[in-house]
Amino acid sequence: MNEPGAPVVRAEHLTRKFGDFIAVNDVSFEVYPGEVVGYLGPNGCGKTTTMRMLLGLLQPTSGTAQVLGFDIRTRAESIRPLVGYMSQKFALYEELTGYENLVFYAGVYGMRPSAYRPRIQEVLDLIGLAGHERERAGELSGGWRQRLALGIALVHRPRLLLLDEPTSGVDPSARRQFWDLIYLLAEQGTTVFVTTHYMDEAEHCGRLGVMHRGRLMAMGTPDTLKHSQLPGPAWDITVQPLIPALDALTATPGVFQTGLLGDHLHAITTGDAHTAESLGAALGDHGFGNALIEEVEPTLEDVFVVLAGHGADATPVTHHPPPAEPACAPR
Ligand SMILES: Nc1ncnc2c1ncn2[C@@H]1O[C@H](COP(=O)(O)OP(=O)(O)OP(=O)(O)O)[C@@H](O)[C@H]1O
Ligand SMILES: [Mg+2]
Repeated sequence: MNEPGAPVVRAEHLTRKFGDFIAVNDVSFEVYPGEVVGYLGPNGCGKTTTMRMLLGLLQPTSGTAQVLGFDIRTRAESIRPLVGYMSQKFALYEELTGYENLVFYAGVYGMRPSAYRPRIQEVLDLIGLAGHERERAGELSGGWRQRLALGIALVHRPRLLLLDEPTSGVDPSARRQFWDLIYLLAEQGTTVFVTTHYMDEAEHCGRLGVMHRGRLMAMGTPDTLKHSQLPGPAWDITVQPLIPALDALTATPGVFQTGLLGDHLHAITTGDAHTAESLGAALGDHGFGNALIEEVEPTLEDVFVVLAGHGADATPVTHHPPPAEPACAPR
């Protein structure tokens, strides 16, 4: 068991190959007690593979990690009872009620009835399923099923929760409720490591790792990432007609990246290459004299696109330690 305050997860050059394909490539990071750390990346970038290694379900090809002080290569059996895992394709017993599902999994963790009965009641209250626990899991809505799966991951009072895309496929209000629960758990001292490919969810994480093609490109608070990973400021540009203006903007020297955002353009420029006036002048030169240009806060999407733009050979890994008060980001 690790010392108080020591990292709950310490991944060291974690690497996993499948044949010649490197699914997780030299990933190092730490997660501290009580943090909510997100792991953001597109399909196939290695999120689940990382998580499965942390659980000791998959051996690394090289590198290692300590989870709660235990090495994943040699002490997986000590790690699993201390960790709650909600897998991406979590399985509920559809024919069993919510309560019976919880009892079943409590049994898997070796809990006796005298221990699991009060704990299940606590979990039902926490996930808000109390009163509906006699309904069959197969009849619950997507949001309820998700929360029941979280309850199952919590039943043995884990110190660390590993949640693999826990909210994919549920509606925004159910996602919101789910995140409220995650904060509550973090406040109560559970450390949470959660994968997602939703940018809005990533915003809610205390710290965030950005993955791309097996590599951890950067890790820090959403704010730190926005202010350390971009080459320069971000701009919103209202102009008509949009598409020809986008082409003109993209061709302008000092413009690093451009895109359409709803009914306007979004751009990132390099260093202090541009002011609103100089961008306006550049567009004016192409016949778009009526542009309304405003410097805006960068978004996580900007960060992601810039980091993904480094490509598969990129090696920049910027780590920003957690702030003095880790846990949750303000909402
Ligand atoms: N057992 C395996 N054998 C071969 N390739 C695998 C295996 N498991 C994963 N991969 C490959 O490794 C890469 C990373 O997969 P992984 O499931 O970790 O991605 P992910 O980030 O979780 O994606 P998603 O968002 O779709 O869940 C993918 O290209 C996947 O096809
Ligand atoms: Mg996955």
